[in-house]
Amino acid sequence: MAGRYAEVYARSLEDPEAFWAEAAGALDWYKKWDRVLDDSNPPFYRWFPGGEVNTCHNALDRHVEGGRADQLALIYDSPITGAVRKFTYRELRDEVALFAGALKNQGVGKGDRVLLYMPMVPEAAVAMLACARLGAVHSVVFGGFAPKELATRVDDAKPRVIVSASCGVEPSGVIPYKPLLDEAIRLSDAKPDKCIILQRPQVEAPLDPARDIEWNEALSGAEPAACVPVAATDPLYILYTSGTTGVPKGVVRDNGGHMVALQWSMKNVYGVDPGDVYWAASDVGWVVGHSYIVYAPLLHGCTSILFEGKPVGTPDAGVFWRIISDHGVRVLFTAPTAFRAIKRDDPEGELLKKYDLSCFETLFLAGERSDPDTIQWAERQLKVPVIDHWWQTETGWPISANCMGIEPLPVKYGSPSVAVPGWDVRVLGPGGAPAKAGEMGALVIKLPLPPGSLPTLWNADDRYIESYLTEFPGYYLTSDAGYIDEDGYIYVMSRTDDIINVAGHRLSTGGMEEVLAAHPDVAECAVIGVHDKLKGQAPMGFLVLKAGVDRDLGEIVSEAVLMVREKIGPVAAFKQAYVVARLPKTRSGKILRGTMSKIADGEPYNTPATIDDPAILEEIKEALGKG
Ligand code: COA
Ligand code: AMP
Repeated sequence: MAGRYAEVYARSLEDPEAFWAEAAGALDWYKKWDRVLDDSNPPFYRWFPGGEVNTCHNALDRHVEGGRADQLALIYDSPITGAVRKFTYRELRDEVALFAGALKNQGVGKGDRVLLYMPMVPEAAVAMLACARLGAVHSVVFGGFAPKELATRVDDAKPRVIVSASCGVEPSGVIPYKPLLDEAIRLSDAKPDKCIILQRPQVEAPLDPARDIEWNEALSGAEPAACVPVAATDPLYILYTSGTTGVPKGVVRDNGGHMVALQWSMKNVYGVDPGDVYWAASDVGWVVGHSYIVYAPLLHGCTSILFEGKPVGTPDAGVFWRIISDHGVRVLFTAPTAFRAIKRDDPEGELLKKYDLSCFETLFLAGERSDPDTIQWAERQLKVPVIDHWWQTETGWPISANCMGIEPLPVKYGSPSVAVPGWDVRVLGPGGAPAKAGEMGALVIKLPLPPGSLPTLWNADDRYIESYLTEFPGYYLTSDAGYIDEDGYIYVMSRTDDIINVAGHRLSTGGMEEVLAAHPDVAECAVIGVHDKLKGQAPMGFLVLKAGVDRDLGEIVSEAVLMVREKIGPVAAFKQAYVVARLPKTRSGKILRGTMSKIADGEPYNTPATIDDPAILEEIKEALGKG
């Protein structure tokens, strides 16, 4: 491949230090780095050691001082509550500085952790940026997680303060958050000193005067706090993500490399300029929300949209078009599942005709594999490029994409396009042999990873090495399988572990199995991901009961479904489970989850040669009504 993309990509790998030093020049540094990349302690690599920065300064104050004070920084649009609020860069900087002062009053300083359990309200972004301002480390936990999941994160991050709100608002109704938070704190060993609670008008949370402070009360005694210089290598945040067990991984993000990579990506990957309106329709609880609702658009001087709603039902499948036209959105980034939902409700795009979308230029999709049907439907309706791009919580920004700001390349359906500059993506076969073009294998990235990707896991260097760097020494294991074609296009086909993506939400089937195994009547269980027309994948459970259990099976299944909802959260969307006599296994006792998924999806499958008893596959088919 020749052309501008090929030239930029080659430069990024041939001389990464020069490449990223040039990108870093776009930002303010209190102290310049000693080295661009410290590679003296492999497999740990650090970007910009010796440098001192503040991410909040670069996201807000730099623009206020540089002429964008009166430009909108953030637009909160909440069709679910009917609220719209707009903040200029000056207003957002002032709100953030004051809330940073409030956190400071509660003893929060550099390196302290602050856990945020927030719905999609502007105060969530304000709290994140306020932590960054103080050099404190935020850890945002998605609102759809249950108290036990929240407690695990509290115990790992040991936050000094937790910031939360009285409720979230979902189409199904108002969800009081405070009882969930109280229960999580009760379950956790590490107790926060204080909780700052935003009272929303939909529900008033009861406060414990010894521990809880209302958001406005916390502000009332606060002075605006200044930005605190931190080392470029200091952590900005921890974001927990599903691992292969029920214990989530605390992905760490640093300050310097993160802001350099994110700011660079806005023009080069997404093709937007400072002043443009950019919308990532995700949630601040996910990496997309961290990177592309809060940090990247602000670092680049864009206007970011914070959307509290769903693609359908709030009030209808036209809400995305309404927001694009009301606020002049140039680029939208969301998950394919959102477009599948819109396509389901408005297949002919009737609602689209009500809005002027002349401002709109590009749609980016990520979070799960984009099926060609959905991409082509979106292309037909919107008449703009629709770009599938691939990334992970760990990487923090796209590994592969059609880089609209460098050189738009032809689209190949089914491929999230080519490696983004900085990412040396390879396919390896068993034992680490490089795969040929078109040959399936493990998708890996040659070390060092570019800036912005995880330097380690929180307090778990060993787990970082074991999870990502051990299988193929010298490479980061993405745990995605796929291939690269002769033109360099990457195809991401499936996960190689037990992670599933349900409506763009990353979940561990292993974590669900741990919950189900605790049911008193369950002897053994398996959870697999099955195809779902709307959500891409959905979990499905198989339960083998203990000998002698003769209770009503429907009742046991209902209890199992409820347990996953209560222990992991509604976001797991665990709704289907079957009682079976046995699970299909290899002779060495490994459950054949892959074969079970194929049966459930009605796909052809080969009976594995290593299977202990092939008759069990027939029993599974029968249980699923596919016999
Ligand atoms: N707080 C509390 N509960 C939440 C929640 C939150 N922040 N987010 C989701 N939930 C609950 C929902 O209310 C729902 O509960 P229910 O079982 O009682 O109905 C459950 O978790 C599943 O929610 P969701 O995954 O949103 O499914 P849905 O069926 O309500 O909606 C879609 C389906 C496709 C419309 C929706 O998943 C969607 O908009 N997806 C976009 C994906 C996305 O933004 N991904 C982020 C990565 S880019
Ligand atoms: P998360 O950490 O939640 O962002 O999930 C990351 C995982 O989602 C990846 O490892 C992939 O399995 C999947 N994923 C994300 N984007 C894509 C994409 N564009 N195509 C295929 N799979 C994707």
